[in-house]
Amino acid sequence: MKVSVVSRSGREVVKGGIQLSDSASVADLQDAIHKRTKKFYPARQRLTLPVQPGSKERPTVLNSKKSLREYCSDNSDSITVVFKDLGPQVSYRTLFFFEYLGPLILYPIFYYFPVYQFFGYKAERVIHPVQTYAMYYWCFHYFKRIMETFFVHRFSHATSPLSNVFRNCAYYWSFGSYIAYYVNHPLYTPVGDLQMKIGFAFGLLCQVSNFYCHILLRKLRSPEGNGGYQIPKGFLFNIVTCANYTTEIYQWVGFNIATQTFAGYVFLVVAALIMTNWALAKHRRLKKLFDGKEGRPKYPRRWVILPPFL
Ligand SMILES: NC(=O)c1ccc[n+]([C@@H]2O[C@H](COP(=O)([O-])OP(=O)(O)OC[C@H]3O[C@@H](n4cnc5c(N)ncnc54)[C@H](OP(=O)(O)O)[C@@H]3O)[C@@H](O)[C@H]2O)c1
Repeated sequence: MKVSVVSRSGREVVKGGIQLSDSASVADLQDAIHKRTKKFYPARQRLTLPVQPGSKERPTVLNSKKSLREYCSDNSDSITVVFKDLGPQVSYRTLFFFEYLGPLILYPIFYYFPVYQFFGYKAERVIHPVQTYAMYYWCFHYFKRIMETFFVHRFSHATSPLSNVFRNCAYYWSFGSYIAYYVNHPLYTPVGDLQMKIGFAFGLLCQVSNFYCHILLRKLRSPEGNGGYQIPKGFLFNIVTCANYTTEIYQWVGFNIATQTFAGYVFLVVAALIMTNWALAKHRRLKKLFDGKEGRPKYPRRWVILPPFL
């Protein structure tokens, strides 16, 4: 089979095209493109079928696990595919590891080291119990997320653009430092003992629930994994589509009840807005996939992220 690989402007990406066997898969084509171009390894490639000029239709993206034949028109012995360079990629695990590593390292620096001297506070710093518990709570949270990244999540996409590492690290590292600065500040005023205990106890309960939600999500995919989506079931997923985000938001509520800083609440609002946006998209996707037609199950009635509001 003869494959012509062109850019979106129609320029030939691989001179003279590629000759492949009739049984070749899309992954074989990606390997062949890599061999010929050297620079574009498979994760960098997005291959689509050409669309008519001026058409508003979304192009069909070629699935690397499928046979190329499936995308050929009847009896045709040749195919044209449109190539797009997605830019340098990193694995999802690398992306998550670096974004979580920042807060895990930066927060204790504000707790353990005399950083406030550089901000003009020369006096000896008194550490309140709530600041110590907050540091353990915070580190437990990000340590848990790194462990889940490596041992629990079964991602559908292997890689993400390298640029996301810088964007996500900027978000997590700066918010981590911002909150750590205020919670560990020499002029920090702690909340009452009861409020602190309620906040941390509630937050910890939500962190454990969040972990359990991630275990339930893991069970939706087999280890060899084809990356598909299933209807999440069990525990809080019986009431809310993104129970993992619900528990994530509530665990930050717990942290803020116990620590009471403006910085912490800003992070809570920003994180809740981001997760709400994602939850709406995930809820829509599941409703579309499970529409109850042609033998497909119907997605049950559920809240999206924050019952009883949304
Ligand atoms: N504080 C913050 O700002 C913030 C923001 C975002 C996330 N988080 C935390 O980080 C955790 C992970 O975030 P995330 O956005 O990666 O979570 P997520 O996408 O909702 O779920 C985690 C894993 O489960 C898979 N999954 C989700 N729904 C599925 C379904 N219906 N069928 C099969 N697999 C499914 C996902 O696959 P895919 O690879 O296909 O997505 C992903 O690998 C969150 O649960 C939350 O605790 C915190």
